[in-house]
Amino acid sequence: MKLDYYLSQFSDLKALYKLVKQDFLKKGLVHHNWHHILRDLGRVVIIGESEKANMKIVLASVLLHDIGRLYPELGSDHHEAGAIKAPEYLKKAGFRSEEVSEIAHCIRAHGPRGTEEPKTLEAKVVYDVDVLSCSVGYIGVARVFDYFMREEKMGVKDMMEIPSGKKGSRRDFYTKTGKIIGMEGLKEARRFWQELRHELEKEERIIKNIIPEYKGG
Ligand SMILES: [Fe+2]
Ligand SMILES: [Fe+2]
Repeated sequence: MKLDYYLSQFSDLKALYKLVKQDFLKKGLVHHNWHHILRDLGRVVIIGESEKANMKIVLASVLLHDIGRLYPELGSDHHEAGAIKAPEYLKKAGFRSEEVSEIAHCIRAHGPRGTEEPKTLEAKVVYDVDVLSCSVGYIGVARVFDYFMREEKMGVKDMMEIPSGKKGSRRDFYTKTGKIIGMEGLKEARRFWQELRHELEKEERIIKNIIPEYKGG
């Protein structure tokens, strides 16, 4: 189904879409911007339909999964900040309180750095969508560079030091569909990071041999 189909089915979802779009465009983040949300909405339609998830819940959760990034004053962990801020958007759009708590769980559990392990089917779908968007294939690698260089002002060597960030025993993918779509690309990205590390270490050794004070970079 196209996204418009779901927006026409649920007036509260349509209202939420407008509210979230407006705020993402207003804040204009470089990396976690409205286009990021659109990519994830596209993917959540594919995975959510294939896994027979509650489409209203997964679509609303994707819309709000990174909303915490627009409110850094609520704390440095955007999962928690998002779960705090999301109910305001959802109530304004007309969602019921049971839906609000289901969506808050999806926000807290999205991606390997989430503060909760995904428990519901919907949270598992949203988790996989986030992994596909940030960690898979050449695009995933390019986005990691883009984010850490532009927004965190890191160099290439600094990026090697970033811990995987997985909180607890998180899986690569939680749904069958996510795994089918993403596993090959995830392996490809991991191969890239491994080869990059080897090259950097080799370069550092060669230069240090000539200039001992060289620290790599
Ligand atoms: Fe995201
Ligand atoms: Fe996120």
